[in-house]
Amino acid sequence: MTAHTFFPSGPLTGRIRVPGDKSISHRALMFGALAVGRNRISGLLEGEDVLATAAALRAMGARIDRDGSDWVVDGVGVGGLLQPGEALDMGNSGTSTRLLMGLIASHGITAAFTGDASLSKRPMGRVIDPLSQMGASFTPSPGGTLPLMMEGLQPAVPIEYRLPVASAQVKSAVLLAGLNTPGVTSVIEPVATRDHTERMLRGFGAELSVEEGDGARIIRIHGPADLHPCDIEVPGDPSSAAFFAVAASIVPGSDLVIENVGLNPTRDGIFRVLRQMGADIAFIDEREVGGEPVADLRVRHAVLEGIAVDPAIAPSMIDEFPVLFVAAALARGTTITRGLEELRVKESDRLSAMAAALRLAGAKVEESDDGLTITGTGGTPLPGGGPVTTHLDHRIAMSMAVAGLASGDGVAIDSAEPIATSFPNFIDLIAQAAA
Ligand code: S3P
Repeated sequence: MTAHTFFPSGPLTGRIRVPGDKSISHRALMFGALAVGRNRISGLLEGEDVLATAAALRAMGARIDRDGSDWVVDGVGVGGLLQPGEALDMGNSGTSTRLLMGLIASHGITAAFTGDASLSKRPMGRVIDPLSQMGASFTPSPGGTLPLMMEGLQPAVPIEYRLPVASAQVKSAVLLAGLNTPGVTSVIEPVATRDHTERMLRGFGAELSVEEGDGARIIRIHGPADLHPCDIEVPGDPSSAAFFAVAASIVPGSDLVIENVGLNPTRDGIFRVLRQMGADIAFIDEREVGGEPVADLRVRHAVLEGIAVDPAIAPSMIDEFPVLFVAAALARGTTITRGLEELRVKESDRLSAMAAALRLAGAKVEESDDGLTITGTGGTPLPGGGPVTTHLDHRIAMSMAVAGLASGDGVAIDSAEPIATSFPNFIDLIAQAAA
């Protein structure tokens, strides 16, 4: 592990482009691998998590190659996945693990899943439960974690499944299993989560319907599905753009344009909350890219105000709370967050990791069971310090990097390596924007 210090920067200015959306990149590779024929993907995120998905799909028979700046995927067709010859190493990636478990559940193959120390602590019971109901069998490690072995069943049994937690990964795992399951597989989602799976599967020609009523959504997929090959353009990742939106908001004098940012309403909560706090964020040239709403974001420095964040907005910004906490630490007054117990089972326990990290950097933070309460400086730089522990969590690393930019002495993190899972050129882009 190599420690890295992020020093206070000058204003962030100019125009930057963040890499492709991680959620969409995983799905583009997976659905391409299940289409019959050749798919072309532009803007794919070339982060370690997505490359773990690509490696696993190759091990199950798909051909996936880089072609210039695009990626080309030759799919095997739904039902055509092959028995992998070795364990599937998922690295740090929960999305790869849970979605691929869904795919394999309805194929007659056996697979072993392994991952790094962070992923090996994360709960897999939430996908094992519905996929077992569909007929797959699992031998997980104690506590329902990785490493685990699974055996799919072909044909699997269609189910109707009500999500007990708001999780797009669990929803997607069941829908992906449904692709190769005869009949109708349904997922009932009491709280809307990111809907990239639904949007993209329709684009690939799957028979998928969404019914909305009483606040719940019922998603039905008819299997077995025939997916036709697609050309996909992956928009910039709002979760990556969020680090720069907060950085430009809290570093005085900043005026930064972040181009081509995905603004799917199931993902854009961070920008709505930052605006509620008084951030100066303009959406320019709103358009559609690859079936997803997109805009360029112009972000100018502003003094933020603490607020009580509505817990109902959490699913649309579930990955952005670490960096929101940094914004809160620089705001005037107190920011209160609740209803965030899911943050404890991400790449790290993000409530306790961010509470500890921000305190080390000099912020005033109280931790409750389900949120943080942060009293901000009103715009005065945080003292800084560290090294803070990132727990193999890219978003803790990048959030504290942003805190460093708005600090007196800089913030050190114990390791910058986790950043490569989702945002390999993060440090270069900071240098570019701060130059
Ligand atoms: C993701 C869903 C979310 C999110 C993760 C990506 C996805 O996880 O935190 O980074 O691509 O479906 P949960 O399903 O656990 O909420």
